[in-house]
Amino acid sequence: VKDVGILAMDIYFPPNCVLQEELEAHDGVSKGKYTIGLGQDSMAFCTEVEDVISMSLTVVKTLLKNYNIDPKCIGRLEVGSETVIDKSKSIKTWLMQIFEECGNTDIEGVDSSNACYGGTASLFNCVNWVESNSWDGRYGLVVCTDSAVYAEGPARPTGGAAAIAMLIGPNAPISLESKFRGSHMAHVYDFYKPDLASEYPVVDGKLSQTCYLMALDSCYKTFCKRYEKIEGKPFSIVDADSFVFHSPYNKLVQKSFARLYYNDFLRSCSIVDKDSREKLEPYSGLSSEESYQSRDLEKVCQQVAKPLYDTKVQPTTLIPKQLGNMYTASLYAAFASVVHNKRDALVGQRIVMFSYGSGMTSTMFSFKINEFQHPFSLSNIANILDISNKLESRHVVPPKKFVEALKLMEHRYGAKDFVTSQDTRLLVPGTYYLTHVDSMYRRFYAVK
Ligand code: ACO
Repeated sequence: VKDVGILAMDIYFPPNCVLQEELEAHDGVSKGKYTIGLGQDSMAFCTEVEDVISMSLTVVKTLLKNYNIDPKCIGRLEVGSETVIDKSKSIKTWLMQIFEECGNTDIEGVDSSNACYGGTASLFNCVNWVESNSWDGRYGLVVCTDSAVYAEGPARPTGGAAAIAMLIGPNAPISLESKFRGSHMAHVYDFYKPDLASEYPVVDGKLSQTCYLMALDSCYKTFCKRYEKIEGKPFSIVDADSFVFHSPYNKLVQKSFARLYYNDFLRSCSIVDKDSREKLEPYSGLSSEESYQSRDLEKVCQQVAKPLYDTKVQPTTLIPKQLGNMYTASLYAAFASVVHNKRDALVGQRIVMFSYGSGMTSTMFSFKINEFQHPFSLSNIANILDISNKLESRHVVPPKKFVEALKLMEHRYGAKDFVTSQDTRLLVPGTYYLTHVDSMYRRFYAVK
């Protein structure tokens, strides 16, 4: 088998959002803190009728329908999520309902969880399966589903929600260049969820930012080394057409790309022009520790990397800026943004992906975009993703309503014996929603 990767994609996100500009005013922070400071436009959130299970059911159902895939043709199903509901019972088992109906219970795979990295772990599992001796010729299916919510405070505007499904197989339009890969995994308490009674994480925001950038540097170094060993020439940021980052908020993405540029400068890559070199020279003696703390370095890097950021990164930022951090789905929503923006113009291009999960796990890997026939062409994937329509038809909710929704969910999380409002007015037909949870904590969903 060759060119194993993503054949098809679909995305689902809740129809409710809150504008970051309105949230700034509501929270009483300085104007521009969330919109310019964090770089975010709006944030999606689940109301009491939706959760990670309903979103994943919806997105799997729509992917199978939109690409006309027989559920019997799926042989592996992997879910990436960090939103804990039934703890020992995987979200994957919930999705089996769709396949059981068609008599297909022969499907391997369970959930992968480590903060925002679970989707990447699932993708690698499916790709490895297709490339292995145990592959039976059927498709793999990867689902990333998360609802990111934070306690009141500085992290709250970095929430978000979405689910993404990706069909995996050989001869894919979006294939993994498996030989170029770099991972960085270590033990750190930057973000974790030790309190099982709460949906909110415990987060050390500043530490998590530094950990993210350290992991990025480390992955990039390994990625470049592998590339050079195999290709016999050094890798620099001009060797990829797009860079897609896990996106907790857009400012970190801007800083990340600038950091890659700084790495290329330190490696004396020829892409760093004379003018930029002179601007960066004063920082060449910093220790790596110092370099993470230097605000001046950060600003200069962002400035010199800006023209390349505009062509190689900006087209990937649409959905994450509009929806917020979707945890496991965030990286793949950024990827979906570039598919939406560039469609068939991506053919022949290389796309570098950086996946980060706190705690911490991270990998840099790359996709090669190949020409493919309907229904697995880039333009058809973009049509089915239908991003513009989905974004435009969202309902803007005032911050007060958003806070009320989160308050209610604080009581509902881990609770039993309740019935939801079943208010489905904003949901499009075909969307799954939660109707009630019984005295045994069993959850029940219906389809609009
Ligand atoms: N106008 C323009 N910019 C402003 C304004 C304003 N009025 N006010 C502040 N800013 C800027 C700041 O200068 C800063 O930008 P800079 O870093 O480029 O200087 C930015 O806005 C953020 O302001 P801070 O004061 O640094 O923000 P704060 O510390 O309050 O919160 C944080 C930010 C730590 C990211 C918080 O939202 C958080 O904890 N989020 C969750 C953790 C997270 O997402 N970590 C990322 C990786 S791990 C993961 O994916 C979960």
